[in-house]
Amino acid sequence: MSKPIRVAILGATGAVGTELIQLLESRNFPIAQLKLLASNRSAGKIIEFKGEKLSIEPVTESSFQDVDLVLASAGGSTSQTWAKTIVEAGAVMVDNSSAFRMESGVPLIVPEINPEAAANHRGIIANPNCTTILMGVAIYPLHRVQPIKRIVVSTYQSASGAGARAMEEVKVQCQAILTGEPVKPEIFPYPLAFNLFPHNSSLNSQGYCTEEMKMVKETRKIFNEPELRITATCVRVPVLRAHSEAINLEFDKPFDLATAREVLNKAPGVKLVEDWENNYFPMPIDASGKDEVLVGRIRQDISHANGLELWLCGDQIRKGAALNAIQIAELLIEKNWLKSAQSVVKVS
Ligand code: A2P
Repeated sequence: MSKPIRVAILGATGAVGTELIQLLESRNFPIAQLKLLASNRSAGKIIEFKGEKLSIEPVTESSFQDVDLVLASAGGSTSQTWAKTIVEAGAVMVDNSSAFRMESGVPLIVPEINPEAAANHRGIIANPNCTTILMGVAIYPLHRVQPIKRIVVSTYQSASGAGARAMEEVKVQCQAILTGEPVKPEIFPYPLAFNLFPHNSSLNSQGYCTEEMKMVKETRKIFNEPELRITATCVRVPVLRAHSEAINLEFDKPFDLATAREVLNKAPGVKLVEDWENNYFPMPIDASGKDEVLVGRIRQDISHANGLELWLCGDQIRKGAALNAIQIAELLIEKNWLKSAQSVVKVS
C-alpha cells in the first residue's frame, strides 16, 4: 500500500469533478487529505467523502501549498490561471483541460497506451480529450500488431462533454418540448433535445472544428506517430453521457478479422460487445458508468481490402475524463513519479 497523498480537486462541483470524488472513494485511492476547490459560487457547499463532510473552498494563492496532487477539471482558463502556482507549490497537476496538451514538455497520457511518457513530466500532465482517449484505447492494440496508416472517425458525442449544466439543459429541453413549451438554449448554441448538430467548437480555415483537430493532433502525440493520417467529424447528439464513435482504419495490408477480435478481447480497458445474432452492439446506455470502452461491429471494410470498421461507446465522464486522470495519478504513485521536478514549464 502506497503512502497516502494530499489531493486537491479543482472543479470539484462539475460533472468530471463529481466523478473524480466518487472514483477516489471507490478505488480506495491512497489519500491523506482531500481539498475540494471550485468557483466562489460554490464556496461553502458540502460534499461527502468517505463519510466525512467536506466544504467546497474557493481557489486562492495558498490553496496548493499543502497538496501533492491536483486533479484539475475547471476549464482551460482556470487551469491556465493556476498552473504556475500549483507547480511552484511542488504539486503535480493532472489537467483535464486542453490548455497544455500540445505543449512540448507536457506528457499527454493514456495509461493503456503511453504510460512511460509520464516519467518525464515537469509538474503538469495532460489528460487527453475524451473522444481521443476512447478511440485510442480501442485502436492502439491493433496499431501495435499492425501499424495503422489512416483513421476516419465520426463521433456521436453526449451532452456530458460540455459539463453538468449542459446535461441539465438537455433534460430541461426534453421536458419543454414534450409539454409544448419554447426551448431556450443557453449552454449549447442550438437545441440538443430531439436534435443533433456538428460540434460547435470554432472552425479552422479548412473547415475542421477544434474538437476534430484535437482528435488529430492528440492521437498523433499519444501514439508518437506525428505523420499519422486522421480525419474526424464530430457531432453532438442528445445523449446524456457516454460518447459513441464509428471508426474506419486503414492498414498497409489486410488485418485478419479473427486476429483483430482476439487482440481487442485481450486489450486493457476494452470490452468486446458483439452479439451478431441479435444485432446487439455497444450503446451509450450500456457504457454509462462503466470503466471499459465497449467495442463491437468489427468488420472488414467492403470498400478497401486493407480496411477495418469498428464501433465503440465509452463513458465520457469516466474513461474519457475522470477515470483516465485517476489512472494517471495511480501510475505516478506506483512508479514513484509523483514528485514534480518544479522546473520551468512554460506557463503562459
Ligand atoms: P462552480 O460549480 O462553482 O461553477 P462543468 O465542466 O461540469 O461545467 O464543471 C466546471 C467546474 O469548474 C465546476 O466545479 C466549476 O465550479 C468549476 N469552475 C468554473 N470556473 C471556475 C473558476 N474560475 N475557479 C474555480 N473553479 C471554477
